[in-house]
Amino acid sequence: MSILALETSCDDTCAAVVDSSGAMLANVVSSQDVHDRFGGVVPEIASRHHLELVNLVVAQALDEAGVSLSDVDLIAATQGPGLVGALLVGLSTAKALAAARQLPLAAVDHLQGHVAANYLLGGDDSASGSFDPPFVCLIASGGHTLLVHVREHDRFEVLGRTLDDAAGEAFDKAARMLGLGYPGGAALEELARAGDAEAFSFPGSNSERARGGWGTSRNSFAQGLDFSFAGVKTALLYRLRELSPDDARARAADLAASYQAAVVDSLVVRVERALELTGLDRLAVGGGVAANGELRRRLRSLGSGVHIPGRALCTDNAAMIASAARYGEQLPYPRYLGLDAYATGERPL
Ligand code: KG4
Ligand code: ZN
Repeated sequence: MSILALETSCDDTCAAVVDSSGAMLANVVSSQDVHDRFGGVVPEIASRHHLELVNLVVAQALDEAGVSLSDVDLIAATQGPGLVGALLVGLSTAKALAAARQLPLAAVDHLQGHVAANYLLGGDDSASGSFDPPFVCLIASGGHTLLVHVREHDRFEVLGRTLDDAAGEAFDKAARMLGLGYPGGAALEELARAGDAEAFSFPGSNSERARGGWGTSRNSFAQGLDFSFAGVKTALLYRLRELSPDDARARAADLAASYQAAVVDSLVVRVERALELTGLDRLAVGGGVAANGELRRRLRSLGSGVHIPGRALCTDNAAMIASAARYGEQLPYPRYLGLDAYATGERPL
């Protein structure tokens, strides 16, 4: 069985082909570089670019996989959360491809997709293959940061989430303050490589707000599993204001390294707490921030039950959507024709 999946929730136009065992036959990502100059993704521009790219990207994925549309048994697409206009391009294309052949369609939740990247065969750094529930999963991307208890392949329970910015946003905003481009997570990591992580002290694991305050779920309040990045972001802003422009430039690598260490620390501390509270010794990660080398190094040192997908499977891609489709509901033709995309929150029933 071959699954053709599309992912267009933000600014990457992605298509992939995955077989019934979870092996990736093709995983094509076309990134739109047009948003850099605006310092963020412009939704309408993203949608227009998806429209221009989507058919080409699908054709390339089929070509690389060495299959034709007649070999495909299931079409999958991200339904949400994300930019609605962008999502609609992928979802509508998926509906059209599926309806033309009267194939079933799987509408996938993007966050479920990030978790499902861990189920792909040969998807992790050691190429050891699929990682199956139960496990704790840290999902850290540009729009979301949450800790979940994955009980079954398609079912997770939220243990904690961010009270303000997502971890990726915290990286992107810091990168902007340091004069790096958008999105800035990878550039900040690159700059941090030449810096001293102990040069500046930023609030990380001991962030007051994340320890107290209100929790989004009853337990995350008491257990300190929620995240907050407002403090560290403001601390960087103040540090930069205290320095002269020349000093700020000269110390940019130290600032980046210290900031990265604080953000990574606040993620790792909560991951450790979640493992302790759930009694699980198995951890997986997903989302663009999981491509960060420092985070990967710190998480790997937690033990042998840690599964980290390759970097290309942490950032947005369609192979993870195909992977989630293997475990989720498959709607028969024509039940999916009326499906709508959703911008935020959980998947509507
Ligand atoms: O999962 P993703 O590709 O898209 C969303 O669903 O948001 O995540 C994108 C986010 C951006 O904020 C980007 O700056 C961040 O992931 N990111 C990184 C790194 N690579 C991507 N953050 C830190 N270090 C990296 N190496
Ligand atoms: Zn994502």
